[in-house]
Amino acid sequence: MLTVAVCMAFLACLQAQELQGHVSIILLGATGDLAKKYLWQGLFQLYLDEVGKGYSFSFHGAALTSTKQGQELIAKVLESLSCPEDMEPGRCAELKGQFQRLSQYRHLKTNEDYMALSKDIEAQLQHEGLREAGRIFYFSVPPFAYADIARSINSSCRPGPGAWLRVVLEKPFGHDYVSAQQLATELGSFFQEEEMYRVDHYLGKQAVAQILPFRDQNRKALDGLWNRHHVERVEIIMKETVDAEGRTSFYEEYGVIRDVLQNHLTEVLTLVAMELPYNISSSKAVLQHKLQAFQALRGLQKGSAVLGQYQAYSRQVRREQQKPDSFYSLTPTFAGILVHVDNLRWEGVPFILMSGKALDERVGYIRILFRNQAYCAQNEKRWVVDQSQCLPRQIIFYIGHGELGSPAVLVSRNLFRPSLPSKSWKEVEGRPGLHLFGRPISDYYAYSPVREQDAYSVLISHIFHGRKDSFITTENLLASWVFWTPLLDSLAHEVPRLYPGGAENGYLLDFEFSGAQLRFCQQQLEQLVPGPGSAPMPSNFQVLTAKYRESPLISAWPEELISKLADDIEATAVRAVRRFGEFHLALSGGSSPVPLLEQLATGHFGFPWAQTHLWLVDERCVPLWDPESNFQGLQAHLLRYIRVPYYNIHPMPVHLHQRLCAEEDQGAQMYASEISALVTNSSFDLVLLGMGTDGHTASLFPQSPAGLDGTQPVVLTRSPYKPHQRMSLSLPLINRARKVAVLVMGRVKREITMLVSRAGHEPKKWPISGVLPSSGQLVWYMDYEAFLG
Ligand code: BG6
Repeated sequence: MLTVAVCMAFLACLQAQELQGHVSIILLGATGDLAKKYLWQGLFQLYLDEVGKGYSFSFHGAALTSTKQGQELIAKVLESLSCPEDMEPGRCAELKGQFQRLSQYRHLKTNEDYMALSKDIEAQLQHEGLREAGRIFYFSVPPFAYADIARSINSSCRPGPGAWLRVVLEKPFGHDYVSAQQLATELGSFFQEEEMYRVDHYLGKQAVAQILPFRDQNRKALDGLWNRHHVERVEIIMKETVDAEGRTSFYEEYGVIRDVLQNHLTEVLTLVAMELPYNISSSKAVLQHKLQAFQALRGLQKGSAVLGQYQAYSRQVRREQQKPDSFYSLTPTFAGILVHVDNLRWEGVPFILMSGKALDERVGYIRILFRNQAYCAQNEKRWVVDQSQCLPRQIIFYIGHGELGSPAVLVSRNLFRPSLPSKSWKEVEGRPGLHLFGRPISDYYAYSPVREQDAYSVLISHIFHGRKDSFITTENLLASWVFWTPLLDSLAHEVPRLYPGGAENGYLLDFEFSGAQLRFCQQQLEQLVPGPGSAPMPSNFQVLTAKYRESPLISAWPEELISKLADDIEATAVRAVRRFGEFHLALSGGSSPVPLLEQLATGHFGFPWAQTHLWLVDERCVPLWDPESNFQGLQAHLLRYIRVPYYNIHPMPVHLHQRLCAEEDQGAQMYASEISALVTNSSFDLVLLGMGTDGHTASLFPQSPAGLDGTQPVVLTRSPYKPHQRMSLSLPLINRARKVAVLVMGRVKREITMLVSRAGHEPKKWPISGVLPSSGQLVWYMDYEAFLG
């Protein structure tokens, strides 16, 4: 009877094997650190999970090490593999023995080696009468080796017809957008998109992998909550205690943003922010929704980041890379970033991303903190945890380590009782005294995995099952670099704040945000670099008032200057509204006004926006949605934050009849008519101008006579800089204003500031010198660098 049963089981197994086929897994870099620490264990786990389910396997550990040495190394790793705790020891030994027999070392270097490997696989298939299901190549090698290996696999080691190929790639996937694109193009010439599995091991962390299923299974409860009306902020955090010692050559090139934020934390961000697909088991839908989330991310500014570096870092770099004593690194080892997602679901909700080395604890989590919109009439002593709406309400995906020591999903009891898959998640047993995020653990419904699994084991299983949604597609990768590259470029020369490391960091790295700006809570005094000669040192005064070209001049450090100008504009606006019921403000484009606009947008709550009309001083002849457009700058740095009636916003009509600034379209005349219809005497209350290094102002350039005099209030002009075609208010119109403010910032303006200070009325040479309001006031606002050099 027993013999019959065994035979039948064996037959069933054989049939199943015939149905499913044979899978060869080739681990490249099989003797490296990652392989030894995680990948072999992950492959063993795959074998344990899949054995007897119809597939047969062979595992090839490949490296450049000699065959003998490689075999010894692999034998050692295989010996150290472990089974899940609940597996019976006899069964464990049996399966481990099988796995060891199925795993071999191969020296794999040349194209011929790959051909030989392919031949051996085919011979084995033939010998054992197996059908080939597929081949997995796991690249656990540095990226410079990718291209050669990819070429060899493509030309000499693809599986036969009907079988699949999967290549698994490890980061770094480039250094910025351009390098990532180059690498992607190169790999794309060898492999199809569906053949590539780019690993981000955070997608295999159990708490992270649970975000979408959790959102899906709790749709009913979350539908009304997962949005800007209820979420106060989202924190995506990965803190480490280790530092970068031993890997500074890698770290110097990458730094914390490229190492962790561009990939791990951004992936998590998209899982939280994306719209939930109807069917989350459709990889295609998940990937598509993820991409949409990327598209909704608001571009980052320099001010969206705070950077730090642990004190010992530069020393470690000098030692490990034989740099001279004078070498100091600017590579950040700590970063806090404020991200905004510009869509209807998330508008206004801060997403805080933070990671760092040498911090006071190792912990990772995603915390969604909900607004508290209730007022509780009862005495606090009577509040009951799961009923009081006044206690904090939060959902936490706890990645691991920290106080809890394991992955978990926590939901405040006053939110709802969540549903999690009971086979894989269990309620956390009581841990009296344990507090998390300010509340005792008993305040949460808390779940942890029934069986803790390493991220790589999870991902290896997903690769085997072709679950592409756990991996980074080329589109996804490039979208992430599009988001991060401008910030990385703008921070390239930023000096990070030094921190001692560990608990000694104290409050030094705490940061806060206001509007779109992030800054450390503890301000460090700026160090003034002493200049040569006896030039006046601005450190003696805060805001300097003097005369420039016989008009009042206000000079200060940039931040104070901008504050002063913003205050002056608000005061002018309030006065104008009080007297005339409205305020007409004409604004210039360019980079100098950006901090001013942001200051007005985020710090001036008494500004009479509802009565303010916004005009453009000049415009580039590009569509209004083009990033080069001045209107777009106004939109990005001011309009999006304030409430101005839309009929008070007056962009320049540079785009008419589907063409740009054509004379025949009479856009300049239209703008002039609009001004004359709405602005009394065509006299703006305030015109904000800048001054170019060639003495231009508005879009009135030395080389282009239009607009310097004459009767046309608005003119088309030509700029020596791209885009060349411009529309601009003319000098006569500007000079009708009640007040003109000229903002000049930065050392690059020093020379022109000096030249113009000595010039007479020479608008053809220096258009700015023609700014002289006929009955209004002219005020110069210059920062110290522009004024004093
Ligand atoms: C890696 C980074 O991707 O992630 C490391 O290169 C970092 O710098 C590591 O230490 C953290 O991973 P984990 O799984 O230990 O949280």
